[in-house]
Amino acid sequence: MTYSRLYRQIKSLIGGEANEFCRCFFKKEPAEIRFCEDEAENTEEAIRLCERIRDGEPMQYIFGYAYFYGLEIICRQNVLIPRSDTETAVEIAVKTLPPGSVFADICCGTGCIAAALLYARPDLKAVCADINEDAVSLTRKNLEKYGLAERAKTAVFDVFSDWSVLPRFDEVISNPPYIKTIDMASLPDNVKREPYEALCGGEDGLDFYKRIITAAKERLAEKTHIIFEIGYDEANDLRRLAENESLSCEIYKDVSDNDRVAVLKGSGLWKN
Ligand SMILES: C[S@@+](CC[C@H](N)C(=O)[O-])C[C@H]1O[C@@H](n2cnc3c(N)ncnc32)[C@H](O)[C@@H]1O
Repeated sequence: MTYSRLYRQIKSLIGGEANEFCRCFFKKEPAEIRFCEDEAENTEEAIRLCERIRDGEPMQYIFGYAYFYGLEIICRQNVLIPRSDTETAVEIAVKTLPPGSVFADICCGTGCIAAALLYARPDLKAVCADINEDAVSLTRKNLEKYGLAERAKTAVFDVFSDWSVLPRFDEVISNPPYIKTIDMASLPDNVKREPYEALCGGEDGLDFYKRIITAAKERLAEKTHIIFEIGYDEANDLRRLAENESLSCEIYKDVSDNDRVAVLKGSGLWKN
């Protein structure tokens, strides 16, 4: 079978994921496979893997990594796969965080946010925290992979517990679980293979935002930032939560034009 024919077969099995599959499996750009009339190698293996993806196994767990903000982030079962949507929050943080500041990546997962930010901004330091021990050890691994570990502290930490155990930080960035309980049952099959507790944000999806805002408020100086990834339909909820705490709130859209990031800022009430 030629590569071009194999490409068509891959496409018929996994549709929109075919291009990413080509990058991961063949280590080539999709066009190099799609238009190549040479005899293909490893066809059986490629089709076998595509069948697993078609049956709901996330590709990033099969290959063990995902691309995020130009980095190849190591992925493991039991830790949420980085999403390109989350690059919006990183992009804003890269432009916003004050020089030399220490940011807390709360609910760090693979550590993709912290790794991308530390890589892009050599002046920053990080505190990375997650309740899942596997996530925290994976965060360390990803930071080590890019020589960033010396600029970061990591902690197994429950956001609903006492925040005073965390090392000092100036700014917060977080992509917390934010899907409403009722919506969890209707997620696509491949997303259901990812950890439930990484996705579910409680009945109204806002449990983590409420907790992080009140806890971080005690720790942050005036005019520092809390940068949240949010669900496409949560902008008004975040505006309301911010207003209740006398914080300002700006909403930013992702590349698909969905509301995706809320940046909250203190207006004089926070501790110095
Ligand atoms: C949506 S994932 C985000 C992971 C990563 N920041 C990213 O953007 O890919 C949310 C993370 O919150 C963590 N988490 C869930 N409950 C938590 C809690 N009570 N305290 C701290 N982290 C928690 C999960 O383990 C998961 O890694």
